[in-house]
Amino acid sequence: MRVLVTGGTGFIGGAVCHALRGAGHAVTVVSREPGQVSGDAVRWDAVPQAIRTADAVVNLAGESIASGRWSAARKAAILQSRVEATRAVVDAARAAKPRPRILISASAVGYYGARGDEALDETSAPGAGFLTEVCRPWEDEASRAEAVGMRVVRLRLGMVLAGDGGALGRMLPPFRAFVGGRLGDGEQWVSWIHRGDVTGLVVDALANDGYHGAVNATAPQPVRNRDFVAALGRVLARPAAIPVPAVVLRLALGEMADVLLTGQRVFPRAAERVGYRWQYPEVLGALRASVR
Ligand SMILES: NC(=O)c1ccc[n+]([C@@H]2O[C@H](COP(=O)([O-])OP(=O)(O)OC[C@H]3O[C@@H](n4cnc5c(N)ncnc54)[C@H](OP(=O)(O)O)[C@@H]3O)[C@@H](O)[C@H]2O)c1
Repeated sequence: MRVLVTGGTGFIGGAVCHALRGAGHAVTVVSREPGQVSGDAVRWDAVPQAIRTADAVVNLAGESIASGRWSAARKAAILQSRVEATRAVVDAARAAKPRPRILISASAVGYYGARGDEALDETSAPGAGFLTEVCRPWEDEASRAEAVGMRVVRLRLGMVLAGDGGALGRMLPPFRAFVGGRLGDGEQWVSWIHRGDVTGLVVDALANDGYHGAVNATAPQPVRNRDFVAALGRVLARPAAIPVPAVVLRLALGEMADVLLTGQRVFPRAAERVGYRWQYPEVLGALRASVR
């Protein structure tokens, strides 16, 4: 297939492009700076033309959620970049002849909000809070492609693990410096996934019509924050004994701290139902593979 990938330069997108090529697909990246991309790439204004030769779209674009305090301006950029990128792709696909058959569009487990110990799957209702307010319209934009017969997969990504970036990339320096530990009381659930399983799900979802609608992209075994940091300490041979108090996190990060201090216990029922086999079902193995 020819696959158009928005956000293909990012932490997840780079690995997705690599995996797609490895699976024999041709990739065109959509980027604000296509000149910086190695391989086939186009600017956003070329999407209406490029989409006509695409069989599928993988939509990952969006302003980073973790690159600064959530000021009103940053929140607007986080929301608008996702909704507008998705709208641009879907409008182009709806107008195109021929048009791609498949849209795999990122969302996040933040859709479910802070839910304590509740077991959540794709049928669970959305929660409340800023990330829910981002994910709902973001997913709604993607779903508009269903009206023209496209198969839409809304990938609700958990915390994506790989050693070269994302949340784990930020955690490694303090842990390696012996100042890592649980966040707050450490009871909150972390629904994580190794990046190798994100790419695995994307490649599988292109080939398998059984993937449609909301699909939780998480490992089958979410863990509490305290168990996550204990596993990370074990893998790094560090004590992981310096907790970060909630009040300190709130002072440092503002509202964004709530994402780290609360969580959701998400189960990937849709991917299980279609028979996806996780490369990294357990957190210890996923962390070992990430910090190797
Ligand atoms: N990493 C995680 O743990 C995680 C968890 C849940 C959900 N997600 C979602 O998965 C997607 C990819 O995440 P990631 O970690 O790979 O993010 P990332 O490394 O920040 O990459 C996002 C990409 O989006 C593009 N982008 C950034 N700002 C943009 C804007 N204003 N307009 C259009 N494009 C913009 C950039 O591409 P160019 O610079 O080439 O334009 C960038 O490479 C995001 O939507 C994120 O919310 C990630």
